[in-house]
Amino acid sequence: MRPAADRWTPADLPDLAGRTVVVTGPSAGGLGHFTALELARRRARVVLAGRRPERLADSASAIRAEVPDAELEQVVVDLADLASVRRAAADLAATGPLDVLVNNAGVMGTPYRRTGDGLELQMATNHFGPFLLTGLLLPQLVASGAGRVVAVSSQMHRYTARRAPLGDPRVQEGRYERWTVYGQTKLANLLFTYELDRRLRRAGLPVKALAAHPGFASTHLAANGQYGRTTGGAASILDAAIKAVSPSTPAKGAWPTLMAATADLPGATYVGPDGLFEWGGAPRVTTSSRLSHDETAQRRLWQRSEEVTGIRYP
Ligand SMILES: NC(=O)c1ccc[n+]([C@@H]2O[C@H](COP(=O)([O-])OP(=O)(O)OC[C@H]3O[C@@H](n4cnc5c(N)ncnc54)[C@H](OP(=O)(O)O)[C@@H]3O)[C@@H](O)[C@H]2O)c1
Repeated sequence: MRPAADRWTPADLPDLAGRTVVVTGPSAGGLGHFTALELARRRARVVLAGRRPERLADSASAIRAEVPDAELEQVVVDLADLASVRRAAADLAATGPLDVLVNNAGVMGTPYRRTGDGLELQMATNHFGPFLLTGLLLPQLVASGAGRVVAVSSQMHRYTARRAPLGDPRVQEGRYERWTVYGQTKLANLLFTYELDRRLRRAGLPVKALAAHPGFASTHLAANGQYGRTTGGAASILDAAIKAVSPSTPAKGAWPTLMAATADLPGATYVGPDGLFEWGGAPRVTTSSRLSHDETAQRRLWQRSEEVTGIRYP
């Protein structure tokens, strides 16, 4: 265990006055909400980017209850809908330079479903939507002079993803294994981060890409994924069970993301909690799987993502 003085806490967040951060998936009770809250506490202008206007409004009210002068904006984006991502990016163009984009929104273990674009839902939401959003916002991240992109991955990238998700997301090959696919989406977050960071450096652009994982935090992720809701019948039971067994809270689960978004760290850094199995604890720089560092897989996923989303960058 590191001495308390060496452990990162939100007290280490710098003053963020004058900085603008976009956080996707900020619904109350989730990691994105607590990420946005702490950034707002440090005076960042925070853009809450989510798919349901009423949840954006709830999240903004909850932040304002703690930080009355929080500078908040809201933008509607459904990451599982490429046209919606394009509309959101067009709306965000008026926001000016962006210092940080936190690609936090995600789904886990959803039953098999194709999006309107014909893509498998978990890959669409957790990877292709964020890939497109990042590319569309890149000019604004460059304009800030020191932009950052933070992906929220998961240790599940180690446990269930035996290979990179390089197949055609419009075609289901073999049986759909929801947990394998979830792990692959979180592996995709890391493959994307490392490839993006390398491309940004190669292009000489003033933007870094980092990743974080929260450990195991009591959010609504499991109930949302299984049932598409958090209350009523089995969804309530699952939500309560997750709350009971989670080693970390949603507030603390946001710390690795906050560290990755603001600490003085090089690109391609991965941050996660320091406790047993990295399920909870204070954030520190950690490592990701060997597979996540496979440069061939990184490049191939990038090419597939360009083809699926129709954007090429940097
Ligand atoms: N909780 C954990 O222990 C854990 C562990 C490892 C990684 N993670 C990662 O942490 C991130 C945040 O999850 P969470 O635990 O905070 O779960 P959560 O409470 O379910 O929050 C997920 C957020 O993503 C949003 N979202 C889902 N689908 C979307 C879409 N199509 N378009 C836009 N937004 C969408 C949700 O919006 P709605 O409210 O509208 O559904 C919600 O705001 C995810 O990427 C997840 O993979 C979590």
